[in-house]
Amino acid sequence: MIRLENVSKNYSNGVEALKNINMEIEEGEFVFIVGDSGSGKSTLIKLLLKELEPTEGSIEVDGIELTKMKRRHVPMYRRKIGCVFQEFRLLKDRNVYENVAFAQRVVATPSKKIRKDVPRILSTVGLAEKYRSLPKQLSGGEQQRVALARALVNKPSIILADEPTGNLDPKNSRDIMKLLTEINERGTTVLVVTHDREMVNLMKKRVIAMRKGVIVSDERNAGYDHEN
Ligand SMILES: Nc1ncnc2c1ncn2[C@@H]1O[C@H](COP(=O)(O)OP(=O)(O)OP(=O)(O)O)[C@@H](O)[C@H]1O
Ligand SMILES: [Mg+2]
Repeated sequence: MIRLENVSKNYSNGVEALKNINMEIEEGEFVFIVGDSGSGKSTLIKLLLKELEPTEGSIEVDGIELTKMKRRHVPMYRRKIGCVFQEFRLLKDRNVYENVAFAQRVVATPSKKIRKDVPRILSTVGLAEKYRSLPKQLSGGEQQRVALARALVNKPSIILADEPTGNLDPKNSRDIMKLLTEINERGTTVLVVTHDREMVNLMKKRVIAMRKGVIVSDERNAGYDHEN
């Protein structure tokens, strides 16, 4: 479970990016976070990754209070979370296989397990045949699927995706969303920040809408075009 209580985030330049946010997400939920540019969506994601500290309030993830977590426990905490971003953030000089394997190597996965897991996760995202390609030899949609494979390979309990389809065309966006849905159906909590109204309306999931650092609506089975 993810729980935010009275969370505010002020940046050092005085911007109040989040103002007294309260939010609860159950294990296994699929949630969209929508809102205008600058409404605080990425700030929220960064707080959940403990890349940023809240100015006020408490953030609990799977029973752990993030603000009280010791620095040395942060890497272990992040292993539980798979992240996907708009810009795919792949290692440019490594091939597809190595990009995914890297995520396992940094957590000291035995090579035997890596050799088994990487091909399996690459076929889940439909890239089994491209394992030797470099990122620049792939389309945008394929690169994002590598990023997703990398996020999934350590079997995270939560996936945080900040505009995962922001650089993709409609067909590739649907493919990524379909994969995220399948992952969610297998029990992973999925949080997706997006601007893609059409997608949100189509998926009929919980939608949390933000505006200027506050939550303005939170609906189950929602579309969001009537919100804006
Ligand atoms: N590092 C930073 N320092 C100062 N202000 C920041 C910083 N990062 C973000 N902000 C400000 O905080 C507010 C929220 O930004 P955030 O990136 O969370 O918005 P967002 O909802 O993700 O927007 P977008 O849809 O454009 O990605 C904005 O006013 C932004 O200018
Ligand atoms: Mg953002």
